[in-house]
Amino acid sequence: MKKYKRFYKNKTVIVTGHTGFKGSWLCLVLWLFGAKIIGISSYNLGIKSNYKILKIGSKINKEFKIDINNFNKLKNIFIKTKPDIIFHLAAQSLVSKSVVNPLETFNTNIIGTINVLESLRYIKKKCSAVIVTSDKCYLNKEIIRGYNENDILGGIDPYSASKACAEINFKSYFNTYFKKNKLISVATARAGNVIGGGDFSSNRILPDIIKSLINKKTLKIRNPKSTRPWQHVLEPLRGYMDLSINLYNNSENSGESFNFGPNKKENFTVMNVVNFIRKITPALKIRIDRSAPSFKESGLLKLDCKKAKNSLGWYPYLSTKQSIDFTMEWYLAYLSKINIKEITLKQIVRYFEQKNHK
Ligand SMILES: NC(=O)c1ccc[n+]([C@@H]2O[C@H](COP(=O)([O-])OP(=O)(O)OC[C@H]3O[C@@H](n4cnc5c(N)ncnc54)[C@H](O)[C@@H]3O)[C@@H](O)[C@H]2O)c1
Repeated sequence: MKKYKRFYKNKTVIVTGHTGFKGSWLCLVLWLFGAKIIGISSYNLGIKSNYKILKIGSKINKEFKIDINNFNKLKNIFIKTKPDIIFHLAAQSLVSKSVVNPLETFNTNIIGTINVLESLRYIKKKCSAVIVTSDKCYLNKEIIRGYNENDILGGIDPYSASKACAEINFKSYFNTYFKKNKLISVATARAGNVIGGGDFSSNRILPDIIKSLINKKTLKIRNPKSTRPWQHVLEPLRGYMDLSINLYNNSENSGESFNFGPNKKENFTVMNVVNFIRKITPALKIRIDRSAPSFKESGLLKLDCKKAKNSLGWYPYLSTKQSIDFTMEWYLAYLSKINIKEITLKQIVRYFEQKNHK
């Protein structure tokens, strides 16, 4: 905890996508560490959102409701607020939605990210930026060894393709504008499937399970044998925070990309996750959905995170089972109307104070 409090206290930090699942957790963590937070988001909130549940608006210094596709508005916020750190998380974040609405996905994830990079050029002080893309930026060849940062980019669905494009555009911005700029350091972060309390998105396994429990409906499972790099939301967030500290203090990793995923030995299929949760909540009923999927999903997706370990000293604190336990503890407390803000803060402290990790 001390390292983060020392670094983030009184730093001005922009979080794009601060109303989203990861963004709202990140704001709470940064608030706990004493940062001055500026939120930028289009606020397309669902009926239930972590941002509303945790009252994130009251924890941050300023919020801007803008579309990141609006370059002038974005640039002016960057110029006015003079950030020390930027975490760019705003995105159309769902594969399923990208198939239905590719234009919104490509605009936000590609042009929106270019607007963030271009706005960075107007910052005339020391600043480090972490651009969040995804593990789905890799060309998926269903390989067992796990993708490393030098693997080929690709993506057959619009979401994955948009994140691969964002990576390529980032490299061109770095090489053209930031490589020789001593004030600005930038890197991209590629994380896997994130779980944790407060995610109410569609077509993600944990939120779907919770909705089935709330509505007492049978859960339909599309791809029971698919393997995903599941990790608790605090794992990649700590990775983004470690990366930005590293970039700010020493720009030698500027222009690089980093994977943040679970331990490679962790090999949970969708069915393993469901079965593990059924032990905690036996009321959950499931049915395998054998109808043809509306979009192709990869069967195997693993990340090699050696680079983050060697360069940043980052490695996952939690096993998949512990991550599911954290997540279910949150949702069960939420469903029982227990003070969820208190539970969330306790989870953050418990996580950052983990002593038993290797
Ligand atoms: N959740 C995951 O499992 C996962 C896995 C890998 C990568 N990611 C990436 O992490 C980031 C955050 O993911 P999340 O799960 O919190 O997503 P989310 O969908 O919960 O939140 C997205 C945020 O972006 C904002 N946003 C969307 N379009 C915008 C626009 N045009 N202008 C301004 N703001 C806009 C939304 O208002 C929201 O605040 C995204 O870049 C996502 O692609 C997520």
